[in-house]
Amino acid sequence: MIQDDGGRKSTATYAEPEAVRRQAGDAESSRANRGWWNRNADEYQDDHGAFLGDARFVWCPEGLDEAKARLLGPSGALRERHVLEVGAGAAQCSRWLAAQGARPVALDLSHRQLQHALRIGCGDGDGAGFPLVEADARALPFADASFDAAFSAYGALQFVADPVRVLREVRRVLKPGGRWVFSVTHPLRWTLPDEPGPEGLTVLSSYFDRTPYVEEDEKGRAVYVEHHRTLGDRVRDLVGAGFRLLDVVEPEWPDWNTQEWGGWSPLRGRLIPGTAIFVCERDEGR
Ligand SMILES: C[S@@+](CC[C@H](N)C(=O)[O-])C[C@H]1O[C@@H](n2cnc3c(N)ncnc32)[C@H](O)[C@@H]1O
Repeated sequence: MIQDDGGRKSTATYAEPEAVRRQAGDAESSRANRGWWNRNADEYQDDHGAFLGDARFVWCPEGLDEAKARLLGPSGALRERHVLEVGAGAAQCSRWLAAQGARPVALDLSHRQLQHALRIGCGDGDGAGFPLVEADARALPFADASFDAAFSAYGALQFVADPVRVLREVRRVLKPGGRWVFSVTHPLRWTLPDEPGPEGLTVLSSYFDRTPYVEEDEKGRAVYVEHHRTLGDRVRDLVGAGFRLLDVVEPEWPDWNTQEWGGWSPLRGRLIPGTAIFVCERDEGR
């Protein structure tokens, strides 16, 4: 059960972390990212909440909207269907799905992110909402075959050391043939500095180097971790975990989108992909 604290900001302060490339295991990555999202949820929602909208379903900084893209199925297909959102943040996407008549469940590792979900009107308190679940995508607290569909908009997949473990969990909780769609940073971006300007267009590191990006505190403890998979790795992971890949969407930067979001910008977006969205379904041949 997520307690609403009325939207108070955290007052904790931390020394500036140091960014390094080193190995980071599954448990270490999970602990670091839970802490990071709890500490940074307020700033994240301040910075990006308006773009995400309180009840829109935005897949990525390019602004691809599920109302138009329909990657989870045609309009009306999810009415009365049970849909799991993995790494939901403030659960804006689930809120949009609920308004379409679906029955979402929004799961996230971060308590603070889910408090923002309550702030914007998610949750099941008023009878019109849906469950918010604080849990790790590596161990989904649901029975087998509980959901008709599942999705993740930049949640979880690039933050875990063992994405196959998450994919197997998603497959387990999906009904036979259930759809699974997730967006992540496009693997190509790993090679470039995470800068929105021209300096973000020069390759500085190897696409093939899977050594994680880690931010460390003064004692060398990981406080934020991102993991890289090449495009081929992602396809192999999906097939190995028992999914059939239907499409890989690389959203193009639209003219209307003039905003910068970290390393995502109109300048880079017009030249190179920033997001990869994998559209899959549970493969019953396995
Ligand atoms: C970039 S946000 C995406 C959320 C939302 N779609 C959005 O655009 O704001 C990433 C979210 O993934 C969550 N997350 C990271 N690792 C996770 C894990 N192992 N299990 C569940 N959630 C995780 C974080 O807490 C965070 O809320």
